[in-house]
Amino acid sequence: MGARIFAIANQKGGVGKTTTAINLAACLAEAGERSLVVDLDPQANATSGLGERANGSSSIDLLDGAPLRELAKPTRFANLDLVPAKPDLAGTAAELSRRGDGERYLTEALATANGDYARCRRSTTRSRDSLSSSARSS
Ligand SMILES: Nc1ncnc2c1ncn2[C@@H]1O[C@H](COP(=O)(O)OP(=O)(O)OP(=O)(O)O)[C@@H](O)[C@H]1O
Ligand SMILES: [Mg+2]
Repeated sequence: MGARIFAIANQKGGVGKTTTAINLAACLAEAGERSLVVDLDPQANATSGLGERANGSSSIDLLDGAPLRELAKPTRFANLDLVPAKPDLAGTAAELSRRGDGERYLTEALATANGDYARCRRSTTRSRDSLSSSARSS
């Protein structure tokens, strides 16, 4: 069975998107379901909330076609992997809006790891930009 994918998006700030994403993922992982958090917020709160930091690759590399499998790193929690975010994602919305595949790139990236996870969830920015649209459409 393919992964179930959740995008957690709300235009309003500070309403608990990131908190919901990381706690849902942690609970499912604790219950034994292999879970992946893809942090798509330049604030990288999901990344820091899981106690991690993007030292090398990050979710922005999905745009250049880097395979999700290589970007997903284990966290300190069993069954819970993370594609961390970096602040340089802030410029990504503009880049995506110029690309024909801007709203589909995440769908395609997540499809490459479809058999690997029971659940994927994305924590996105609060703006109605191409980055959030891409998360919602995947
Ligand atoms: N259920 C809750 N009860 C009380 N406080 C909460 C709850 N969920 C989140 N918070 C707190 O609300 C604040 C904002 O939460 P969070 O960062 O998850 O929101 P967000 O929607 O991701 O914000 P942003 O739009 O800035 O990304 C945090 O301080 C968080 O600890
Ligand atoms: Mg947030």
